[in-house]
Amino acid sequence: MCSFGETELLHTFKGIPFTTRSSPELLKSLDTFDAREDDVLLVSYPKSGTHWLAGVIAQLCNTQVTITSPIEFGDISRLEELDKLSSKRIIPTHLDYNMLPPNFKNKKCKMIYISRNPKDTAVSMFHYYRDNPNLPTVDTWTAFFDLFLKGNVVCGSWFDHFLSWEEHEDEKNVLFLFYEDMKKDLPKVVKQITLFLSLNVSDSDIQDICKKCSFSEMKNDTEKENSDPSHTVCALTSNRKLIFRKGAVGDWKNYFTPKQNIRFQEIFNEKMKLSKM
Ligand code: A3P
Repeated sequence: MCSFGETELLHTFKGIPFTTRSSPELLKSLDTFDAREDDVLLVSYPKSGTHWLAGVIAQLCNTQVTITSPIEFGDISRLEELDKLSSKRIIPTHLDYNMLPPNFKNKKCKMIYISRNPKDTAVSMFHYYRDNPNLPTVDTWTAFFDLFLKGNVVCGSWFDHFLSWEEHEDEKNVLFLFYEDMKKDLPKVVKQITLFLSLNVSDSDIQDICKKCSFSEMKNDTEKENSDPSHTVCALTSNRKLIFRKGAVGDWKNYFTPKQNIRFQEIFNEKMKLSKM
């Protein structure tokens, strides 16, 4: 069974499990964070395609911006570090909307939320739990499936996270993206991002960027360590090699039993009854 009891790896803040890589002092002080009007937030529930989106944005913005490590990653010195950055900041986060520093909301900072079919997210997260020494041990898919549905995983319930953000989907400063749309037509999504961020990028540059951000290219870059291997946009690891696993849509079908699928669907329908998804 899963040893969620490896309490040294996780702690709970406002009812949500975090790894010890997010110190309680930092989480407590997030409310005081001083946002800048031109900050861009890159928001996701873990394993939704955060690195993919960050890769696209890094290509689009080139050297004019800094993609920081996640705002909730580290100890109290983190806020000061972010404050000192002189360049424009793209700040990743896995925070639920309600935990977001209020200053980002007051200043109407641009926020891009990326989401993914929760069944594929669950499978991806299962592998991440297995491979990532910063997360508790989980022995079987069955055990992880239960934890995921109960929201007893790092960053809490997928449903709560998604719903907290979906409520703000129509706000002008929020862009909602889906992993599956990126898989289907990446240039179209990249174009959407350029319009949202008011970037002037030609169609041929968009095509080039899409090639550089294919799963195989990004995985290769990481293996060759062309990119900084100790800098990830995930608050749960600094090892980029753990990120690029399969990069597919529908891998859940290789894991979910028919019974698990029915149970998942029932809970999905219940929790998401007010959702537009
Ligand atoms: P899998 O575990 O299903 O392969 P995150 O960046 O939020 O941690 O999400 C990681 C997931 O995104 C992993 O899913 C990873 O393989 C996938 N991913 C990363 N880069 C990708 C890309 N360029 N194209 C498609 N999927 C990608």
